[in-house]
Amino acid sequence: MLLRLTRLCVLVLTLGIISSVDAQNSAPDARPSSRTCKCMPGDACYPTSQQWDQFSSRLSRPLVRDQRPLGAVCFRDSGEFNYRACSYRTRRINDPIYRAGLSNAAQFTTFEALVNGTTVQQCDFSGPMANGTCFQGRVPPNAVNVTNAADVQEAVRFASRHNLRLIVRNSGHELMGRSMGVGALEVFTHNLQKIEFTDHFVPEGAPPQTQGEYAVTMGSGVSWNTAYAQADIHNRSLPGGLSPYGTVGAAGGWVLGGGHSALSRYYGLGVDNVLQMKVVLPNATYATVNKYRDPDLFWALRGGGGPSFGIVIEMTVRTHPNPPYTAMFWVGQAQDNASYTNLFELWNRYNNPLNEAGWSGVMPFFNRTIFLTMLAQGNPPYDPQAMPLMQSFHQAARYMPGVTVLTEQFVPYRSFGDFNYDNLVNTTVPHGFNFTASLPGPPHSVTSSWLLPWNITAPENARPLAKIYTNLPGGTHYMVGGGPVSTNDPSEVSITPAWRNITTSLIILPTGILGIDDPTSSLEAIRRSSYEQTQVFRELAPPPFGGQYLNEGDYYEENWQAAYWGPNYPRLLAVKRRIDPKDLLIVRKGVNSEDWDEEIICKTPSSQ
Ligand SMILES: Cc1cc2nc3c(=O)[nH]c(=O)nc-3n(C[C@H](O)[C@H](O)[C@H](O)COP(=O)(O)OP(=O)(O)OC[C@H]3O[C@@H](n4cnc5c(N)ncnc54)[C@H](O)[C@@H]3O)c2cc1C
Ligand SMILES: *[C@@H]1O[C@H](CO)[C@@H](O)[C@H](O)[C@H]1NC(C)=O
Ligand SMILES: *[C@@H]1O[C@H](CO)[C@@H](O)[C@H](O)[C@H]1NC(C)=O
Ligand SMILES: *[C@@H]1O[C@H](CO)[C@@H](O)[C@H](O)[C@H]1NC(C)=O
Ligand SMILES: *[C@@H]1O[C@H](CO)[C@@H](O)[C@H](O)[C@H]1NC(C)=O
Ligand SMILES: *[C@@H]1O[C@H](CO)[C@@H](O)[C@H](O)[C@H]1NC(C)=O
Ligand SMILES: *[C@@H]1O[C@H](CO)[C@@H](O)[C@H](O)[C@H]1NC(C)=O
Ligand SMILES: *[C@@H]1O[C@H](CO)[C@@H](O)[C@H](O)[C@H]1NC(C)=O
Ligand SMILES: *[C@@H]1O[C@H](CO)[C@@H](O)[C@H](O)[C@H]1NC(C)=O
Ligand SMILES: *[C@@H]1O[C@H](CO)[C@@H](O)[C@H](O)[C@H]1NC(C)=O
Ligand SMILES: *[C@@H]1O[C@H](CO)[C@@H](O)[C@H](O)[C@H]1NC(C)=O
Ligand SMILES: *[C@@H]1O[C@H](CO)[C@@H](O)[C@H](O)[C@H]1NC(C)=O
Repeated sequence: MLLRLTRLCVLVLTLGIISSVDAQNSAPDARPSSRTCKCMPGDACYPTSQQWDQFSSRLSRPLVRDQRPLGAVCFRDSGEFNYRACSYRTRRINDPIYRAGLSNAAQFTTFEALVNGTTVQQCDFSGPMANGTCFQGRVPPNAVNVTNAADVQEAVRFASRHNLRLIVRNSGHELMGRSMGVGALEVFTHNLQKIEFTDHFVPEGAPPQTQGEYAVTMGSGVSWNTAYAQADIHNRSLPGGLSPYGTVGAAGGWVLGGGHSALSRYYGLGVDNVLQMKVVLPNATYATVNKYRDPDLFWALRGGGGPSFGIVIEMTVRTHPNPPYTAMFWVGQAQDNASYTNLFELWNRYNNPLNEAGWSGVMPFFNRTIFLTMLAQGNPPYDPQAMPLMQSFHQAARYMPGVTVLTEQFVPYRSFGDFNYDNLVNTTVPHGFNFTASLPGPPHSVTSSWLLPWNITAPENARPLAKIYTNLPGGTHYMVGGGPVSTNDPSEVSITPAWRNITTSLIILPTGILGIDDPTSSLEAIRRSSYEQTQVFRELAPPPFGGQYLNEGDYYEENWQAAYWGPNYPRLLAVKRRIDPKDLLIVRKGVNSEDWDEEIICKTPSSQ
């Protein structure tokens, strides 16, 4: 946890790589020379201004130099103070679209903050005239505003040559802060917006006469909002995330870490749908990877987590038919904890049967309130059991003592695109949970997660699970398993095979709803609380039977290799060592990150 940034001497190692050595923090018996560090601003090895200029001149757009955190203009006693700029930024501080498009911000300010010992260095602002100091924190000082693969190749070469920490930032949604980094060079992929549909995609290197497929090729900056809208225009659909205004990326970290969707019940996970990726590898090669071209790397890219196996420029994924959907919205509030437990128990009795009858969706819960947003394919639903089962849940809930039903409705949608627009983009009509509602205060967030296997969410386990849920401060139960998620071959992709036997990916919040944390708690305490809330699930469904969704993270997860990847970890490690022998693309709790500190600045080989 403790950041070790005190480097006392700088050594020049072999291979022309300049590295710093932390002598002060070395254990008595450690050999100082075994510790190698990335080159950070202020170090003698850091590139000179002239070297940055030369680098910039090789890019398609000028390097974004000396970028400062969003709030820097709000600190009245600093030379950067600018009332107008600050007012504008303050008005949009909670706007996910605005934040997604910025190279100098994450979706959640938590991930811009640097925890250094007992201090938290950040640039927190709540409006003009902020007092104190705006710290750079984890906001990278330099960013490459990528428009093509050559820009990324240049960034990879420059970072390798100068031993810089390299990070990749797409939408900035990542929930472990992996898309920000102290003193790093940032590869900003948001502007890679290509999107092309075809009905006859054939991967490169496929045998002659290979049948073409319906597919879409997307630049890695394309958001789900764009992908859904464009797919609908082509009368196709594809499984993707549910995020406010569709701001999560469709072809970046979401896919690389697994990618779950309300449509996974019909079309599988994100990784199950990838046909080809074009990536810049750590040796700066621009490679096309698919089941014919480096199948081992293709396997690793599908679930190994971004950006560990390369920087994606574009990817091609399967598209599917575009049928109508029946949506079901339900909100119920319990007046006390006992009724809340009874309500969860009722839901738990229906969870698996509803999934088997073709329903999927999300259930945020907090403050003794349960919000259901569920989908069934077809209007009316294709599965004849879908409506009777859901109505039977409604009927039972309606007469539960201590429970007030606030919303109960079925809404037909012509397509998933229409559902998404109505619920995650332009929410003019009330339908249960308002996914676009802006959050009070700055967008802080800390989460933990666990994958819940079938038997944990089964009717037999309804009461014990209900008691556990009652004790959680809040969370979102993503019922995204079943169907092809369960039947697709687990050996095709590198995510933990636990995914093939789950109904639910649960996100747990430390307090309140997404984004609101307790202002009296420290970041550390909130992270610890979030980890502790998950403990009961770790014990109930340990890996490889259960696991954790690496994209929904947990700061303190110790057994992350098994939780994210189960038995696939050794094979992932072998691929990683082959393609990234110099540890260029390492992230927190990423493949081969074991010997690195939390901020991926220094490496201390454990075997020495
Ligand atoms: C509000 C919200 C809603 C969410 N909803 C869902 C959901 O419905 N389903 C779901 O499965 N997940 C969901 N997530 C989690 C989501 O999958 C992760 O946040 C994911 O990491 C986002 O990927 P990104 O590329 O958009 O974001 P980023 O934060 O920019 O990137 C995420 C990670 O991928 C890496 N990366 C990004 N682009 C590339 C690239 N081109 N090449 C290589 N590496 C890259 C980054 O370095 C980082 O480590 C949600 C998260 C939030 C905050
Ligand atoms: C972290 O704290 C140490 C000790 O107080 C300090 O020397 C160092 O500069 C800090 N790191 C950063 C990045 O500010
Ligand atoms: C900053 O300090 C000034 C002077 O003490 C005070 O008037 C102002 O309200 C403070 N601003 C904030 C955001 O706390
Ligand atoms: C990046 O380039 C885009 C154009 O592709 C431009 O609109 C944007 O302002 C640039 N971002 C930064 C941070 O320079
Ligand atoms: C779109 O696709 C759906 C299902 O695949 C089909 O039923 C519908 O007729 C198509 N709509 C148009 C306008 O072609
Ligand atoms: C929690 O619910 C109560 C009503 O039961 C409501 O008064 C309160 O505002 C809610 N709190 C939050 C944070 O939504
Ligand atoms: C949102 O929907 C409303 C009602 O259908 C419409 O009037 C409004 O223009 C829409 N807004 C946007 C941004 O599309
Ligand atoms: C949902 O929240 C958004 C953003 O705050 C708001 O514009 C919209 O009116 C809300 N929708 C409903 C139905 O309340
Ligand atoms: C669920 O199944 C697993 C593996 O079959 C088993 O180890 C575990 O005890 C079961 N848990 C419950 C609650 O039934
Ligand atoms: C899935 O879980 C069930 C228990 O619910 C267990 O019986 C079954 O063996 C598991 N299947 C796999 C493939 O692990
Ligand atoms: C209800 O449960 C919550 C979560 O465990 C707990 O914090 C709260 O104290 C309980 N309330 C009562 C009245 O028992
Ligand atoms: C770069 O790495 C890839 C994957 O390991 C390898 O196939 C390729 O030959 C390497 N290219 C160079 C120029 O070393």
